[in-house]
Amino acid sequence: MSKTRILVTGGTGYIGSHTTVELINAGFDVVIIDNLSNSNREVLDGIEAITGVRPAFIEGDVNDLSTLDCIFQAYPGIEGIINFAASKAVGESVQKPLLYYRNNLNSLMNLLEMVEKYNVKGFVFSSSCTVYGEPDVNPVTEESPIKPATSPYGNTKQISEEIITDTIRSGANFNAIILRYFNPVGAHPSALIGELPLGVPQNLIPYLTQTAIGIRKELSVFGNDYDTPDGSCIRDFINVVDLAKAHVIAVKRMIEGKSLDCIEIFNLGTGNGVSVLELIDTFESATGVKVPHKIVGRREGDIEKVWANPKKANEVLGWVADTPLADTMVSAWKWQQHLAEKKS
Ligand code: UD1
Repeated sequence: MSKTRILVTGGTGYIGSHTTVELINAGFDVVIIDNLSNSNREVLDGIEAITGVRPAFIEGDVNDLSTLDCIFQAYPGIEGIINFAASKAVGESVQKPLLYYRNNLNSLMNLLEMVEKYNVKGFVFSSSCTVYGEPDVNPVTEESPIKPATSPYGNTKQISEEIITDTIRSGANFNAIILRYFNPVGAHPSALIGELPLGVPQNLIPYLTQTAIGIRKELSVFGNDYDTPDGSCIRDFINVVDLAKAHVIAVKRMIEGKSLDCIEIFNLGTGNGVSVLELIDTFESATGVKVPHKIVGRREGDIEKVWANPKKANEVLGWVADTPLADTMVSAWKWQQHLAEKKS
């Protein structure tokens, strides 16, 4: 029996590469398109080293319809698409809104066109807990209100969800699953793939691990005067491999015709709110490595606290994010060490 073929856009990126590994391990045939704007070809070596399989790779841009057409002709029978190809830096999106709207929305519309043209059965979209803004109540469920976006990046996630919903409601003959990620962190336990930050990291974990290894002098903790037990912000940090596995379940569900609705939305989080200071403590005790840090002022636009109610994903998908946070921190640290070894 031939393997079910899945197109993974942005498949050499952070979450895309981990998902590709899990798809291959689950017996899927993966085709990747990535423009390498925030990743590199060596990620394919990591995927191959872990799985023993080198996925088909096309260096190209999802914004280019003719490239997509060529892929669907060269790799017939694609049954599912998992769409990771998007820009994701909140601050940059405020500086370059058109880049974000063009890149994140054009690519989505192109892919939806391909879904209809080539009879793809299932479409998985990477959304974010950013759609809930600053929630009135935690943990947030999928029914929690959508708040006005605070950045063009966040707005692209909201608009993308609407574009997908409208397309499905128009009677298009496919299913979609929207996955709202909380804060994905960590790396594959093999330390052969992980997050590749370009320049100075904006996100907490890459900044923390770079500080722990001495690339950065100290980590700035943005605010300790929030209305939380220790005053620092609270997030729901979810292991990237756990997150990747949810994509495999989602795409399978649609291909096997098991969706309960043609569009389904799931929160992907652990259900545990952890503060920035608690996270630093967890990292230090799990790895034995100290992270020099200081408290500075709040970062503009930050949410005070948000964590998931993942009950729907737990019950409907049969998926749980159960990797202990300490293990996730060890994986992030091993990955940082792997990057340092490669450089030396
Ligand atoms: C943000 C976006 C999210 C996006 C994610 C990845 C919002 C509300 N959230 O998440 O949608 O998917 O980026 O790009 O737009 N922190 C420090 N010091 C640092 C870095 C971060 O204290 O050097 C703190 C932040 O203040 C925050 C927490 O760590 O409280 C997590 O920050 P970060 O990793 O940047 O993710 P979010 O802002 O939660």
